[in-house]
Amino acid sequence: MTPQFVLDDVSLIKSNHNQTNTILKNINLTIYTNQITSLIGPSGAGKSSLLRLLNRLDDPSAGAIYYDGQLLKDFDVLELRRKVGMVFQIPVMFDTTVAENIKYASRFGKNKKKTDKSVIELLDMVGLDPGLAERDALQLSVGQQQRVALARTLYTEPEVLLLDELTAPLDPTTAQEILNLIRKLQTQLGLTIVIITHLLQQARDYSDFTVYLENGKLIEFNHTEALFSNPEHEAVLEFIQGRRAR
Ligand SMILES: Nc1ncnc2c1ncn2[C@@H]1O[C@H](COP(=O)(O)OP(=O)(O)O)[C@@H](O)[C@H]1O
Ligand SMILES: [Mg+2]
Repeated sequence: MTPQFVLDDVSLIKSNHNQTNTILKNINLTIYTNQITSLIGPSGAGKSSLLRLLNRLDDPSAGAIYYDGQLLKDFDVLELRRKVGMVFQIPVMFDTTVAENIKYASRFGKNKKKTDKSVIELLDMVGLDPGLAERDALQLSVGQQQRVALARTLYTEPEVLLLDELTAPLDPTTAQEILNLIRKLQTQLGLTIVIITHLLQQARDYSDFTVYLENGKLIEFNHTEALFSNPEHEAVLEFIQGRRAR
């Protein structure tokens, strides 16, 4: 397996007023290409903070991150974000048509698309009726909006998708459908996916690798099935069994 991201002794420190907060502590981690990696751990563990480092919404205070063997900080940020797309928990919709929402990235010169993946093709890819293209995006259901947000991210033909709790606002059936879609897209497009979820069964069912974080530290990283069936650390076992704060 080929590494997509390598985190080498990464720490993240934030200072607010007179208080210094160590959010991530000496993280060493490899995220492999064409695999789905889940980040799990209690609320406040640092999952979102770690994800944000991967498309440079934030930069490490210490240590280094490599993408395809090159230092992440040497990439042009816009070029990087075209390769490393992110979808958030609450879909961000602009007050215009579905088609315009999907083509949003083409507004930025640097993001002009090279190939011609049409809006219709993308709607089909994310399981939406192509007839929705001219509809007002704000009138769609949250589940449909989440699919539009995915289509927008896919428009720039990314190599990586970062997904932060994207199924949290959805009912269980819709959440399941979105996860099935993500698994399908991963196979079809050969994407590398990093997904944060608070639903452990989702991580277990849908990811190849799982990372357990707690208190800013990487406690365990393993193949998903190995981590869930035979965790090495007591903390991970307690978390999985629901005996530790989520
Ligand atoms: N900009 C910031 N300044 C200070 N503290 C922050 C900042 N962002 C996050 N934190 C703190 O970092 C910790 C980890 O947050 P987060 O990455 O959101 O955790 P998770 O996604 O695992 O719930 C929390 O204690 C949070 O309060
Ligand atoms: Mg979070």
